[in-house]
Amino acid sequence: MSFDLVLFGGTGDLAWRKLMPALFQAFRHGTLPPSGRIIGVGRHDLSNDEYRDQIRARFDHVELAKRPSVDEFTRFADLLEFVRMDLSQPEDYARLAESLAQRQADTVVMYVATAPNLFTTVCEQLAAAGLNTPQTRVVLEKPLGHDLASNRIINETVCKFFGEGQVFRIDHYLGKPAVQNLFALRFGNALFEPLWRREHIANIQITIAEDLGVEQRGAFYETTGALRDMVQNHALQLLCAIGMEPPINSHADAIRDEKLKVLRSLKPWTPETLRQDVVRGQYTAGTVAGGPVLAYREEAGVSPDSNTETFVALRTEISNWRWAGVPFYIRTGKRLAGREARIVVNFRPTPHAIFDSHIGMANQLVINLQPKDGLELHLLAQGQNNRKVARTSAQTLVPVQLDLDFDKRFGCERVGAYERLLLDVIDGRLNLFVRIDEQQEAWRWVEPILNYWAHDAQGPRLYAAGTWGPSASSAMIARDGFCWSEEC
Ligand code: BG6
Repeated sequence: MSFDLVLFGGTGDLAWRKLMPALFQAFRHGTLPPSGRIIGVGRHDLSNDEYRDQIRARFDHVELAKRPSVDEFTRFADLLEFVRMDLSQPEDYARLAESLAQRQADTVVMYVATAPNLFTTVCEQLAAAGLNTPQTRVVLEKPLGHDLASNRIINETVCKFFGEGQVFRIDHYLGKPAVQNLFALRFGNALFEPLWRREHIANIQITIAEDLGVEQRGAFYETTGALRDMVQNHALQLLCAIGMEPPINSHADAIRDEKLKVLRSLKPWTPETLRQDVVRGQYTAGTVAGGPVLAYREEAGVSPDSNTETFVALRTEISNWRWAGVPFYIRTGKRLAGREARIVVNFRPTPHAIFDSHIGMANQLVINLQPKDGLELHLLAQGQNNRKVARTSAQTLVPVQLDLDFDKRFGCERVGAYERLLLDVIDGRLNLFVRIDEQQEAWRWVEPILNYWAHDAQGPRLYAAGTWGPSASSAMIARDGFCWSEEC
């Protein structure tokens, strides 16, 4: 199967850091269909060779095991071309159309990795140039809008020219191997299903912590913030994967129907829950990895009196028969104590205690997403069954854990998130992409938080870089009698 992949934003940060390395890995492993072409699009006047040289230089920043050898890069570079385009100029699309017409590839992927304000222009111009053929697939990077209304405008324009089956809205968290394994754990194994409900689960915690700050993206982040950048998409998709009912089959729409039901069942916000159950924070100067780091308000491109949140913690519930009353906590932030993404499922303690264990000790399933990728099942055992304790006849339980490290089990040759998603687009598999109604429902749910903050004079709560966020986040969860997993 032949393909042309046109990368709008071909000299942008995402292309250098994620897309080209992912395409190269697919090429190296022989999973990229052999008859392909990758066309970078950008404003600069670059020849094909100059573009290839720039990409080669960028590979020096990629981790060693993922860098191409000279020979590998030479072969990979044969796929690469560059087209200079001003995205507002119809004649530039006509030139692109000519270049695509030379090959008549079976599939043409238009990957729009530009600033979001160009999404509609690109789609309109593609259509005007006759490039919205049935062979075409459009990939849209997040963020798709900054609220429900702007999201609707983008999606309406896209849908005027492309069918929903041609639109691939990326949430790269869905491509992470750990998320695939979460689906496998839930729907490929019968073990947990009977326990996966309110009768047995006390609470669920989703943490996506980053130790990085906003890096070079201060200006972008100022108008985005953690709620739009991480919660509206990545965190809610994880919540869907944990909370959804088993789909009737593995087709894209069967999966997306179930995720949509979860989003529709999220408890609506009230003035009281907005005040009590959502914490927004912003980092001040602190220490990360042993070195001093700036406060958010001192970062390049950030206003010195910015109220943009770099941290969010919130509590919600899924109002349905399976989950009613079970708190789901979401927490994400920049410049936190470490780079850790995990989901912790806290089971209820035994209904009656016959051992002298700590009150409230219970089983826990930890789904590690990164940097570790694996599962931990925390159980209780009589670990103190030694002579000293035997004499006192105390029956004390201690926590022990079963550990499954997917990196060790399956090796490091596993398919990375962008590699998986790019291959899926080329093959036309929509399972790991977000449908229009899911995306809009997620915006609908976060919008009351945005509106509340817009009128909340208190602003974000400050936390020192290198910590786990403002103390209000611990206080929020403590009100239910629980604690974040690293505090218990
Ligand atoms: C992106 C956000 O979607 O996800 C970034 O825009 C964030 O701000 C990144 O750093 C986190 O992704 P990952 O895969 O490194 O956890």
